[in-house]
Amino acid sequence: MNNMNADEKIRVAVVGAGAFGRNHARIYAELQRAGEPVELLALVDQNRARAEAVLGELGLSGAIRAYSHVDDLLADPANLHITAASVAVPTGQHLQVSQTLMQGGVDVLIEKPIAATLNDAGEMIATAERTGRIAMAGHLERFNPAIRATLPLVTRPMFFEVHRLSVFTPRSLDVDVVLDLMIHDLDIVLWLVRSPIREIRAVGIPILSSKVDIANVRVEFGTGCVANFTASRVSTERVRKLRFFQPRQYVSLDYGRRDVFSLSVQPAEPPANDVAPPVPGFDIALPSGFRLVPSRPRIDDEEPLRSELRAFLDAVRTRSAPPITLEEARAALAVALEIQEQIANHTRRAGII
Ligand SMILES: NC(=O)c1ccc[n+]([C@@H]2O[C@H](COP(=O)([O-])OP(=O)(O)OC[C@H]3O[C@@H](n4cnc5c(N)ncnc54)[C@H](O)[C@@H]3O)[C@@H](O)[C@H]2O)c1
Repeated sequence: MNNMNADEKIRVAVVGAGAFGRNHARIYAELQRAGEPVELLALVDQNRARAEAVLGELGLSGAIRAYSHVDDLLADPANLHITAASVAVPTGQHLQVSQTLMQGGVDVLIEKPIAATLNDAGEMIATAERTGRIAMAGHLERFNPAIRATLPLVTRPMFFEVHRLSVFTPRSLDVDVVLDLMIHDLDIVLWLVRSPIREIRAVGIPILSSKVDIANVRVEFGTGCVANFTASRVSTERVRKLRFFQPRQYVSLDYGRRDVFSLSVQPAEPPANDVAPPVPGFDIALPSGFRLVPSRPRIDDEEPLRSELRAFLDAVRTRSAPPITLEEARAALAVALEIQEQIANHTRRAGII
């Protein structure tokens, strides 16, 4: 397929009208209202009444069609000529829905985790290759403005401390907390460290659901970098924080507050003070010739999902590789599955079940 003209509208559908699909539909509609070359034409949910209710809530009833199956969408005699779609159905359905779409000539943005098994992920990748479709993974935190502002600071991360805690809701219970929440941070840390994994240790237990609801994981990379991850979906508070240390620098980011703070040790200028002047709030005397430099990078304010959908539409328009490939998503999935195995081993060793 050739590049599209810059003003040619990309005709999109959203599949899955649940908690997250609703957000995809809302943002496509917002982009359309803002004059971007995109047109939301269909919302698909096996519970068609839910799709219709979501369209009503978004003020889109009448303008956009609701379907109960992707086959119905593709076979509609009114042929909507859909060229791109977001897949926001439960993880176990991602392969079947995205394959049907790709085989029907539709480019896809597949929510994270792209699949629950490496086989499914592999089949998805093979289908994208065979059909020549653009297929992007929806690892949303890559578009978090705090992560974007952190990228230029990354030099040689050696130690990560990552927390993602949320209160219990009866959603995404088809997967455990590793595939539901920790996968966000696994993708981010793999992306920042870019090194093979040497060792994984993990503990996790079910609390309110039948699957692991809270997990703590230690990952050691080939570079020697160590990352500790804690993820919980049974917390009393909401926390989404990532902190890391690299030579002479500490960086702390809060995904939720979209805030980044860094503290670096730098040669003092002018040098040769006996003791570097104290930084307000960091009243620490450093050895001669050094000072502590705190900084808060400027943070853009765009909603991460909006940035993600724009990046997807851009890849569709230009027929270029999307910013998050299915191969990268498969790599994060492989680590998540290895973590699940280590949790199972730990559970057996500890005689919990
Ligand atoms: N990126 C993020 O931060 C983020 C956040 C939440 C959820 N998600 C992901 O989005 C996906 C959906 O999660 P959710 O919380 O919206 O789930 P949900 O259960 O609220 O909604 C899923 C919807 O899909 C529909 N559905 C199921 N199978 C279908 C099929 N074959 N065809 C059409 N519709 C079908 C269901 O009826 C339901 O309405 C999951 O993969 C989840 O991991 C991502």
